[in-house]
Order: sequence, then C-alpha cells, then structure tokens
Amino acid sequence: MSEKKQQVSRRQFLNYTLTGVGGFMAAGMLAPMVRFAIDPVLEASGGTDMQAVVDVSEITEEPQRFDWTFEQVDAWYTSDTTKSAWVYMDGNDEIVALSPTCKHLGCAVSWNGSEDFPEEFYCPCHGGRYYKNGLNVPDTPPDAALDLFEMEVREGTLYLGDVTENPVQTQDEDPV
Ligand code: FES
Repeated sequence: MSEKKQQVSRRQFLNYTLTGVGGFMAAGMLAPMVRFAIDPVLEASGGTDMQAVVDVSEITEEPQRFDWTFEQVDAWYTSDTTKSAWVYMDGNDEIVALSPTCKHLGCAVSWNGSEDFPEEFYCPCHGGRYYKNGLNVPDTPPDAALDLFEMEVREGTLYLGDVTENPVQTQDEDPV
C-alpha cells in the first residue's frame, strides 16, 4: 500500500516537474514575442521632445500666435500633430510662451480676441479672459492661469516642449 502511494507520489512529482520545466521553456520563448508586440506601448512618449517653433528675432512685446507641426508617435500609430503658442517678450527680455488652451473647458484663446477687452487674451466660448501674463481675470469662467510651455533657445531658435502650470498670482508679475 505504501509502495503504491509512493508510485503515485512519484508520478505526481514527474508531472509537476515536467509542467514546471515546460512552462518555464514556454515563457522563455513567449517573452521576447510579447515584448516585441507591446514594445511601442512601453516606449516613453515623445511628448517631452522640444520642437523648433520660431526664430527669436521674430518675437515681439506683443503676443503673437505661432503654430508648429511635428510627427507624433503613439504606440504603433504615427501622425502629424499641430500645436500653437502665444509668444511674447516680457519687460525683462524674457520669452513667455503661453498655451492657447482655455482653462475653463479647453477652447482656444486669442490675444485681443474681443474689442471689449483689449490687451487681454479672450476665450469666445464663455467669455473667459486672461491678462497678458496668462493670469485668469477674476469673475470670468476660467479658474486658473493659462499654462506655460517649457522652452529653450538654441542658436537663435525658440524650442517649445510640454506645458507646465503658470505660477503667476498677480496681473503684473512676469511668469518666467
Ligand atoms: S472654454 Fe473658455 S471660457 Fe469656457
């Protein structure tokens, strides 16, 4: 009886061993295939790349809108993406690049977009207003300042990257 018990036990041991080894070998073969299949998803997004936008000599104290297009890779899908920024030179000769995306519900704002509110960014969707430094005008729909683009200047060209929170708290301070 005990011998039969031991035989079953031995069979079970062999089954477990073969299953384990087989599983291990299968995993070893499948892992590179799975990795290859999902590799684009694991890649860091290209969103942080800086893109050339405009020659610095074109930037004035008056905010101007600049658009740029670049190739965006999203997993297996590549597409042309266009972005925009409102760019100006502040009183300290520092470049300010503001996102045009309204912080209320995401419409696009324009500098001097309303005759009633000159020298401000204006959002036509719900009358959102922002001062030149991006700070939202109190008692208008947006509850936060326009985002700022990360930027750098290389050989006379302005490069812009991702947007970050605009730290301005008052109408007159420079954002950068
Ligand atoms: S989306 Fe700009 S005010 Fe509503």
